[in-house]
Amino acid sequence: MPGPGLELIGEEEIAEVVGVLRSGFLSRYGPNDDPAFGARVRHFEQEVARLTGVAHALAVNSGSSGIWLALAGLGIGPRDEVVVPGFTFVASISAIVYAGALPVLAEVDETFNLDPVDVEARITPRTRAIMAVHMLGNPARLTELRAVADRHGVALIEDCAQAFGARYRGGGVGRIGEVGIFSFNEFKTITCGDGGMIVTDDEDLYRRCFAMHDQGHSPFRLGIEVGRRPFLGMNFRMTELEGAVLMAQLGKLDAIRAHLQANKRIVESVLTGLPGLAFRVLPDPDGDLATHLVTIFPSGEIARRVAGELGAIVLADSGWHVYNHMEHLLERRTITGKGCPFDWPCQGTSDARYEAGMLPRTDALLERSISFGIGVSDPNLAPFGLRMRDGPDVARERATRFREVARRHLEG
Ligand SMILES: Cc1ncc(COP(=O)(O)O)c(C=O)c1O
Repeated sequence: MPGPGLELIGEEEIAEVVGVLRSGFLSRYGPNDDPAFGARVRHFEQEVARLTGVAHALAVNSGSSGIWLALAGLGIGPRDEVVVPGFTFVASISAIVYAGALPVLAEVDETFNLDPVDVEARITPRTRAIMAVHMLGNPARLTELRAVADRHGVALIEDCAQAFGARYRGGGVGRIGEVGIFSFNEFKTITCGDGGMIVTDDEDLYRRCFAMHDQGHSPFRLGIEVGRRPFLGMNFRMTELEGAVLMAQLGKLDAIRAHLQANKRIVESVLTGLPGLAFRVLPDPDGDLATHLVTIFPSGEIARRVAGELGAIVLADSGWHVYNHMEHLLERRTITGKGCPFDWPCQGTSDARYEAGMLPRTDALLERSISFGIGVSDPNLAPFGLRMRDGPDVARERATRFREVARRHLEG
């Protein structure tokens, strides 16, 4: 089972879903004066806004659509550029492409998230936003990235798909940028199969995202309606069935985080002190969601030997998360092959370059790194590690195995 929330699906989720089915109200819209209508999606939005520390949260049907809607809400489109890390899930990049804007790939540093210095070097007059992706459960250098964004008058977008429940300097991730996005697919902290959330403090941005996600309507379809809709929208709504599962999952968030953090402490204590082995740099260790412990070896050869023996992978081999393996991006393939951002008449963007090896520092780092999964079992990121239900004994035993294999290859 992939993510921690999925492993904990139980009677609470079943009761919530049955409750929705019995109520007969499956859409997020229902009669607020009927006690049978539970307004689960609305309640879930309110809870996520409170946990994040922002004014608005908008539930959508996936993290990918959340990113695309956020870009739309910010008015980002053709001839604009968005800086995004080369180590991320492809959706961060494809959402930019389908907004019509150009993704500009940037290096990650030993946080495994955007390197603020490299980001600043890639800003041009066309840059409209920086997309910080909090990979593997830990926040990027948000203070520095916020400063870069402010210096250049561009937006900061937080892709928090892999970090629901992580914190940064005392508050939830997703509140430092103009907008943040979460995912609730099966690999994420909590899940309803597929779902997403947009969080923001900006009322206007929220209203634009809401309208785009629901056929141009204003929030909750109240107020401005036929005759006064600001623009055409689409349908990216979350259903009450999904909201119901997520409300039950949310009740388990604190337990998930505490369990992951306890297991990670055990694994870290077993691996600490191994000569030559380093760990990922965490800009805010207290905010760590602890879904992964990323280890860094002195060379790619050693890391590959260790991974091979453990049945793990070096992060450079992650087929879904490294730009080098995104053949559809490298070959600029879109559904029509026409228009912005890759088509030559889309002025000024024809020189966009996507090539394997174009981010040498990212490549070198990922080549020497292995993630020990703490609560996410993903063949593309961390096939070796723990599952959510594993207790301290299993954590110690697996960490000891990792240490023994790593020690042998580091010494020899
Ligand atoms: C970093 C990142 N961004 C965006 C997404 C897209 O989320 P979803 O699968 O909900 O569309 C994911 C999902 O794996 C992700 O890991």
